[in-house]
Amino acid sequence: MIPLSVPSLKGNELKYVTECIETEWVSSAGPFVTRFERDVARYLEIPSAVACINGTAALHTALLLTGVGPEDEVVVPTLTFIAPVNAVRYVGAHPVFMDCDDWLNLDAEKLAEFLARECEPGDRGLVNRASGRRVAAVLVVHVFGHPARLAPLLGLARQFRLPLIEDATEALGSTYEGWDGARRYAGTLGDVGCLSFNGNKLVTTGGGGMLLTRDAAVAERARYLTTQAKDDGERFVHHEVGYNYRLTNVQAAIGCAQLERVEEFIRIKRENFAAYRRCLADVPGLRLIEEPPGTRSNYWHYTLVVDEDRYGQSADTLRRRLAERAIETRPIWELNHRQRPYRDCHAYRIEKAVRYHARSVNLPCSVGLDPELVPEVARVIRERA
Ligand SMILES: Cc1ncc(COP(=O)(O)O)c(C=O)c1O
Repeated sequence: MIPLSVPSLKGNELKYVTECIETEWVSSAGPFVTRFERDVARYLEIPSAVACINGTAALHTALLLTGVGPEDEVVVPTLTFIAPVNAVRYVGAHPVFMDCDDWLNLDAEKLAEFLARECEPGDRGLVNRASGRRVAAVLVVHVFGHPARLAPLLGLARQFRLPLIEDATEALGSTYEGWDGARRYAGTLGDVGCLSFNGNKLVTTGGGGMLLTRDAAVAERARYLTTQAKDDGERFVHHEVGYNYRLTNVQAAIGCAQLERVEEFIRIKRENFAAYRRCLADVPGLRLIEEPPGTRSNYWHYTLVVDEDRYGQSADTLRRRLAERAIETRPIWELNHRQRPYRDCHAYRIEKAVRYHARSVNLPCSVGLDPELVPEVARVIRERA
């Protein structure tokens, strides 16, 4: 069986976890939590990182931090894992679904069109004319690790005075090369960025997440909200509703060990992607989604787009054929504007996402994937061509 994606825990993970057990620091206080936050912040060249229990909790907190509240609206991609959309509902707000571009990321042109044509200034900010609700934020996801087109997206956020939240849960270590003459990491450019360390992510803690911010006051508030909003830690006085969203020392210990290998993981992901590309380049009707120009993707997932007419087989048939050879693949997530809880929400001119949803197949991409298996997977894919 060639799995879609499994973690690699062959570094210092066991050593650091053993340290937690031996010192009996296993809960949400402990040296590894602070160290993991410091290591992530240092790696991503951002002043503050706040560890959370998972990426969804980080997203929920990010929405609270940017002032999104009940009956607001947040622009989100329809093509993404559902977690950021659910987080919008956790704060009582409503998603407005946006289409994707050819890298599967939120379409900047359509967002510009929506904000300019469908919204108008109101007393409390920008208002969606169709619903009468305030548009309170834009939530961008770096889908499958490929950096979204943040330059125009941030320009729009500034123009319309909207906070921009980056869901970089899939994009740890992905970068913009030459942003204002420097390298910048996905998740560090918006108002708040979110990471996930779920088992399937590039770097895992089993379950975990992180909030990223350049603003020390925002980081402090994030720490406050994610630790039950304690105003007096001794007498347990709370002036606000808080959350039990802190990461544990054991999880952070795994994270510290994983992060030591992050650049090695990205190198392997990129090399295996290049191998898939070489093996499949001449097959008519197949296209692998590549990193956008001016970026370095961590290539968390390898997405193959199948043009049935030219390839001669649908994405679903190809998946079935690969499964028969014990090669695990995945379709991309059901589009969120079609999910039961969100069918009544505003969906703005969704076109490309529908096409990509029907045609895409995610190929095996574990960091431990034996490079010799790539031509084998490619051979099965080519058989039909
Ligand atoms: C785009 C996206 N956002 C949010 C999450 C949620 O992260 P977590 O599973 O750590 O809650 C995930 C993955 O799990 C994701 O892929």
